[in-house]
Amino acid sequence: MARQRLNSGNAQAEELPKAKINKQSIQQVMRLLKYLKPYRTKFFLGLLFLILSSSSSFLFPLLMGRLIGTGNTPKQPGSMMSKEILDFFPSDINTVALTLLAVLFVQSIFSFFRINWFVEVAEKGLADIRRDTYFKLVTLPMNFFSQRRVGELNSRLSADLSQIQDAITTTLAEMIRQVIVFTGGIIFLVLVSGKLTLMLLAVLPVLVVIAVFFGRFIRKLSRQAQDKLAESNTIVEETLQGISNVKAFVNEAFEVGRYNKSIRDVVKLAMRGAKFRGVFASFIVFCLFGTIVSVVWYGSHLVQAGEISLASMFTFILLSTFVGAAMGSFPELYATMQKAFGASERVLEILAEVNEPISINEKDNEVKQHIKGNLEFNNVVFAYPSRKEITVLKGVSFEALAGEKVAIVGPSGAGKSTIAGLILRFYETQGGELLFDGKPSTEYSLTDIRNQVAIVPQDVLLFGGTIRENIAYGKLSSSDEEVIAAAKRANAHEFVSGFPEGYDTLVGERGVKLSGGQRQRIAIARALLKDPAILILDEATSSLDSESERLVQEALEELMKNRTSIIIAHRLSTIREADKIIVLEKGKVIENGTHQQLMQNDEGLYRYLSQLQFEV
Ligand SMILES: Nc1ncnc2c1ncn2[C@@H]1O[C@H](COP(=O)(O)OP(=O)(O)O)[C@@H](O)[C@H]1O
Ligand SMILES: [Mg+2]
Repeated sequence: MARQRLNSGNAQAEELPKAKINKQSIQQVMRLLKYLKPYRTKFFLGLLFLILSSSSSFLFPLLMGRLIGTGNTPKQPGSMMSKEILDFFPSDINTVALTLLAVLFVQSIFSFFRINWFVEVAEKGLADIRRDTYFKLVTLPMNFFSQRRVGELNSRLSADLSQIQDAITTTLAEMIRQVIVFTGGIIFLVLVSGKLTLMLLAVLPVLVVIAVFFGRFIRKLSRQAQDKLAESNTIVEETLQGISNVKAFVNEAFEVGRYNKSIRDVVKLAMRGAKFRGVFASFIVFCLFGTIVSVVWYGSHLVQAGEISLASMFTFILLSTFVGAAMGSFPELYATMQKAFGASERVLEILAEVNEPISINEKDNEVKQHIKGNLEFNNVVFAYPSRKEITVLKGVSFEALAGEKVAIVGPSGAGKSTIAGLILRFYETQGGELLFDGKPSTEYSLTDIRNQVAIVPQDVLLFGGTIRENIAYGKLSSSDEEVIAAAKRANAHEFVSGFPEGYDTLVGERGVKLSGGQRQRIAIARALLKDPAILILDEATSSLDSESERLVQEALEELMKNRTSIIIAHRLSTIREADKIIVLEKGKVIENGTHQQLMQNDEGLYRYLSQLQFEV
């Protein structure tokens, strides 16, 4: 959505990540500055030191000129030369050299602190921005995530944040320094020799105009290459995430081919950029030295005419390389600034997204409105926000009384998991109502609902951490005894104790691999700790072998005690005992009743499905 919105109004889709720097965008980006506010003292001190060290750099060409001038025979006797700026400095060679060293020393101290402070400000400020964006991301509604590729979002965001960080630590400082060097440089050039400066200024602006124009074009090219690269990184990320799929389908060659093609495109774009970049660099170097040659040529005439000293000409040349270098660095700096602006705008877009009303403070998450466990769907109509044209639920109604076991069955794609998502209020309904204890779900806070509804999905994701931490995820404040008690009730204690490190065994990506049934039992222990009023089992046992299914089924029976349970199942044997069975097909409830009642309907889908499974 962020992307689309940035696009609206102009057709420069491919130029997106670069932002215009104008009044409006500056105002926008200023909003990020509030993150630097707590560290402003260090920031301004750093700024001061930066200004001081940049300004003091002029002493270098001036004193160098003086050093050379004093070594030379001074102005030709009898010349009418007026007092020059260099004459304001001491004339003793040793004094000049020592002053020069002192200047260099002080300058390095300035730079040391300036760099330290800027980095500190940027690191701390960025850490705050990172924390806030992360918080924003995890509290955004589900619908945000279904509309974009999470891998892309993640790498985009981390790239954007480092871009901002770079801008604060180096680009900003560099920009300020170059502006000082440039303006101060021009002033000193005029002071050293007005005539020479005029001649220099006749050449430089032409150079700058061409450079800026050229630079802009090159940036566009490198931007395209970067985007392409990000695209290819998405391929890597997706492939690695689904590596077992890739292997199972023997699609390694296909993926490598896909990646290779993408990488070739990057190279093509980069090569194109490199050609122009090369032309650009040679052009700049040629012009730079061309300018120096012409300055020396004209300066030599002035020296011959006795209008300036040789020392002044030397100083002038040093100063003009300062000015030239500053000018040369502007396009690049400007481009980096633009990128940082683009990055800031995208980060701000994320920060401006409306998140779910969830508190960042864990303590605020205590249940305020208790739910007894009555759940009612009343003519619920729903389409996913990302696919509005397809109505997934077309007026679904059913009721589960507190403590009842209600099963939802039906072919895949019927909308069963969607119902589970709606109970957790991952999405808002388009029509009808969802009621808890007779009150519309909208009258409860999201935190209250989610604290009192637990879900055990088909495929349980364990976080990289210990088994203990994974179980305690259901209730962060639980004690070790509670964790173990829950594990026992969930039939998990036995296998967990079997590991050498017991509850401290690491699981997840870098830990031991648990079987589906084991993970399921951990999830059940988690849910037991949470002790929800409403429990949703979304095909919780459907991918298990019969041995683990027995253990999990036992654990589930334990978990379902004393609460409302919504059991989504396609293995019908597991739901015979349910108080009520709802048969869902294509987003509609087509049958509703107990097992016995539904079996009596000869034409019914339930009976048909039952018979199919029985025969197998
Ligand atoms: N996040 C989503 N965004 C868009 N459409 C979805 C999403 N999740 C599921 N669907 C669609 O909604 C319909 C019902 O899906 P689902 O509730 O998962 O079915 P079931 O669990 O019964 O197999 C399917 O057509 C599916 O393609
Ligand atoms: Mg499903």
